[in-house]
Amino acid sequence: SMESIGVLMMCPMSSYLENELQKRFNLIRFWNFQEKSVFLETHRNSIGAVVGNASTGADAELINDLPKLEIISSFSVGIDKIDLGKCKEKGIRVTNTPDVLTEDVADVAISLILTLLRRLCECDRYVRSGKWKYGDFQLTTKFSGKSVGILGLGRIGTAIAKRAEAFSCPVSYYSRRVKPDLGYKYYPTVVELAQNSDILVVACPLTDETRHIVNRNVMDALGAKGVLINIGRGPHVDEQELVNALTEGRLGGAALDVFEQEPHVPEELFGLQNVVLLPHVGSGTVETENAMADLVVANLEAHFAGESLLTPVV
Ligand code: DGY
Repeated sequence: SMESIGVLMMCPMSSYLENELQKRFNLIRFWNFQEKSVFLETHRNSIGAVVGNASTGADAELINDLPKLEIISSFSVGIDKIDLGKCKEKGIRVTNTPDVLTEDVADVAISLILTLLRRLCECDRYVRSGKWKYGDFQLTTKFSGKSVGILGLGRIGTAIAKRAEAFSCPVSYYSRRVKPDLGYKYYPTVVELAQNSDILVVACPLTDETRHIVNRNVMDALGAKGVLINIGRGPHVDEQELVNALTEGRLGGAALDVFEQEPHVPEELFGLQNVVLLPHVGSGTVETENAMADLVVANLEAHFAGESLLTPVV
């Protein structure tokens, strides 16, 4: 029985996941403790697993504090909030939730492009506020056929590329490795990709190499007619430079699901017409979150049964 294994959940993320964990393990909710020291005194020697997410993972300090920790099973595909170096050093396994969320995130990327170019949020406000009675809405910008550049052609980037193809868009990409089988044009630098794209979509994992990969040079290469879409992680983009580029009219627009300091969004963006701002909802459907929860649980069960992990990172 696995009932004695302590599983530490870092923050509230899914009530379905909480229930599924509670049925099988000794679930401990980190957010119920006012003081970390009290939590550690009571539970440090019983925690075998940590469940984190895109906002709260496991840093070196937490990992060092839990001597019996064997596995971190993240309720997210992104694992940038987990100290992977520390995990490798201590032999702690790490799993994430790839594949099950790919379609949802790619759907949101395309939605962001359409919402930004066709100004759909403003259109909706136009009708609700009664302005339609006094005149038609202004003309907007066509999506179909525009060149789409994808930064990171992994699972999610490829799903976005497939969707963009259905909109008759020429697709090109920048990636760590060239992927000739997919038949898209490769650019060896992000600046060249941006120069040759109407729409630049960020879809890579956040690592030391990709932090601020969309810098001022990339924004200027995209230019006053180009738009930036970010469904990856906020720190991929130099947010202060993004605010500057948008307010100075050097960049055409931006549609963002992620930000550098979530849930804080630079207020300079609130007044701009050429931005779309979402509260990190890329994978946030009932269907996908439940599939992610099942995968978190299945990885933990496999680990503690001595079987191979379903979606190992480390
Ligand atoms: C992920 O999976 O990394 C998303 O950003 C959050 O669900």
